[in-house]
Amino acid sequence: MKQTFKTALAIVLAMNCLGSWAQWGAPADPNPTVKLKDAYKNYFMIGVALNQRNVSNDDQVNLVKAEFNSITAENDMKPGELHPKEGVWNWEKADKIANFCRQNGIKLRGHCLCWHSQFADWMFTDKKGKPVKKEVFYQRLREHIHAVVNRYKDVVYCWDVVNEAMADNVRPNFANGKFTPGSPYRDSRHYQLCGDEFIAKAFEFAREADPNALLFYNDYNECDPGKRDRIFDMVKKMKDAGVPIDGIGMQGHYNVYGPTEEDIDAAITKYKTIVKHIHVTELDIRMNTEMGGQLRFSRGENKPVAGYMNTLLTDQYNRIFKIFRKHKDVIDCVTFWNLGDRDSWLGVNNHPLPFDENYKPKQAYYAIKNFDAKLDNAQPKEDFVSNPCNQPGQEWPKVNSQGYARFRVEAPDAKSVIVSLGLGGRGGTVLRKDKDGVWTGTTEGPMDPGFHYYHLTIDGGVFNDPGTHNYFGSCRWESGIEIPAPDQDFYAERTDIPHGNMQKILFYSKSLGKMQEATVYLPNGYGKLVKGKNGKMEQQRYPVLYLQHGWGENETSWPVQGKAGLIMDNLIADGKIKPFIIVMAYGLTNDFKFGTIGKFTAEEFEKVLIDELIPYVDANFLTKTDKWNRAMAGLSMGGMTTKLITLRRPEVFGYWGLLSGGQYAPEEIKDPKCVKYIFEGCGSKENPAGINKSVADLKAAGFNAEGLISEGTAHEFLTWRRCLYLMAQKLFK
Ligand code: G3I
Repeated sequence: MKQTFKTALAIVLAMNCLGSWAQWGAPADPNPTVKLKDAYKNYFMIGVALNQRNVSNDDQVNLVKAEFNSITAENDMKPGELHPKEGVWNWEKADKIANFCRQNGIKLRGHCLCWHSQFADWMFTDKKGKPVKKEVFYQRLREHIHAVVNRYKDVVYCWDVVNEAMADNVRPNFANGKFTPGSPYRDSRHYQLCGDEFIAKAFEFAREADPNALLFYNDYNECDPGKRDRIFDMVKKMKDAGVPIDGIGMQGHYNVYGPTEEDIDAAITKYKTIVKHIHVTELDIRMNTEMGGQLRFSRGENKPVAGYMNTLLTDQYNRIFKIFRKHKDVIDCVTFWNLGDRDSWLGVNNHPLPFDENYKPKQAYYAIKNFDAKLDNAQPKEDFVSNPCNQPGQEWPKVNSQGYARFRVEAPDAKSVIVSLGLGGRGGTVLRKDKDGVWTGTTEGPMDPGFHYYHLTIDGGVFNDPGTHNYFGSCRWESGIEIPAPDQDFYAERTDIPHGNMQKILFYSKSLGKMQEATVYLPNGYGKLVKGKNGKMEQQRYPVLYLQHGWGENETSWPVQGKAGLIMDNLIADGKIKPFIIVMAYGLTNDFKFGTIGKFTAEEFEKVLIDELIPYVDANFLTKTDKWNRAMAGLSMGGMTTKLITLRRPEVFGYWGLLSGGQYAPEEIKDPKCVKYIFEGCGSKENPAGINKSVADLKAAGFNAEGLISEGTAHEFLTWRRCLYLMAQKLFK
């Protein structure tokens, strides 16, 4: 069997079972030549904060040049680093970053001119260490700002002039028996010496030094309503006083749990009423509940990242960038604070960036880059109805006419609830908790029509959704949801026709030394007496289709998720087929270890099927027992099984079907007369070209071959229902 198909199937199977891929689960990139800065060229610049190593290591330099069009010096342009003592300047490191930008035509954000940390503290004291007057401090600050701004005026397009001057929390003062409101300002040496005037002075000096650079006030926790309003009030007061503040820098030191997109949206909406420019200046998203720019933080543990935490990271980046795109009118630049997790000020074990410790892109990188602008403003139609797969009396989950799915889970004390179902490459749909501890969420876009397995991950624990029935898939009973399909009538449970029945059988497998299970579909009227060819009344005998499930499924999957019985009942009732029996046995697929797809032979199941099950069925059911009344087909790994067995045992089955389970090549079939009909199908989101070519090759080689490409579906059950519906009409003809 061609390696390409086995590899493709291995990946599909891996996707089906692992959910999150490896540690960071980087999906296939549909646009590998498009980098972050390209994807956002119609929105805003994409920047990154760099250290000396990042502009010295070739791989990192190439990554920077490929992905980013704005750079910030993480530390090297700060007053304490540049100007540690009066008259002492350390330009070297800052120059290196600036020259890197000049040589590569990349813009440089100046960070920063006046801050309470990493500052040129010598400015506050005279040679004897005595505090100086604010006028002396201002003279020194002015010289510093003019020297730095003028040195980099040709490459720096904006400056974080004042950084983090507002208080994180305001505690009322209690004096003389009464409380007075606390100061909204950080109680820094700057503020103690100058009050908030130092802010105005710093901007004044910066404007003097460079009339063209955009001047920003930069701070963290800028979406926390209290801190937001303090920043807003200060900037408004300053601007009303003529202080040249052009923009607000939202640092963006967030975490996987917050802030919410509503809080971020509210902050930007408020800030844009007083400034024309907003930069997200220091974006990173740590994997705990802490946030902000403070230097006291948890460094995390050196352990592999759980898949669900990766999903939370991807989801938070995805939601935040959707808000940023919404405000592209005022956001000019979004800068990540460090290049890769290895560089992060938070330490590698907080995993806060789109590039991992080896500078490899994570799932989050692709969610940020490969966004679908159409979905940005898409609002699902509010015609949600309960999911057909729900347990009796269960209202949730719900689906709407467009294919969106909406979930509701009560878990008051949980920190995260993720539904494994969602748009590709996202790792699932992350729900949000309301004040009553109820988690709700809607898929970001319409799901493919048809049936989908899913489960919930609550703070890392995997559970089924209590609202739905359970379906055997991924080697466990999962929840299930049914998305409306335009052609769903062919598997509808019609009340106006007779129905066949599903029978569970247990047969002994000598080769396995144990009982095996299978489900048998018997058409309506099975067992009734009919007039035979010899005119005598006899029980009608039927051809048999042996229909195999995929990896992680079992003998209940085709009958239940596949709706095989309903499809047959409707076809028979509509006179599109003559009745036949379907036997759906467990295909021994679930002990299969990933990465060994190349070694999969299906020999074990071949013995069970041909030496034990078929004899049992022919002995216990009204079957026609020759090969021309016996067919075999399977989906996914069941398709691989079918191909391996039908090619090795062409004497057993006269009709062969592969459903998202590979293709036959004419040269693989030694005796073309050994098969009357070959069916091959897959979803349009799988490998339609492979199927079309294979069917064309088979036809060209004289085989009666037919193919189906299921429109708008992937490696999922509606693909296979549509395949069964078409294939069944050609069997036993
Ligand atoms: O340069 C000295 C070096 O000589 C010494 O050997 C080494 C030993 O500790 O320390 C080096 O200084 C470190 C400096 O980074 C340069 O690497 C300081 O200890 C360390 O505290 C400083 O951390 C920086 C921090 O700002 C200082 O507050 C982080 O790298 C930097 O990412 C962080 O960035 C700030 C933004 O500027 C403003 N917003 C918040 C953000 C995070 O705190």
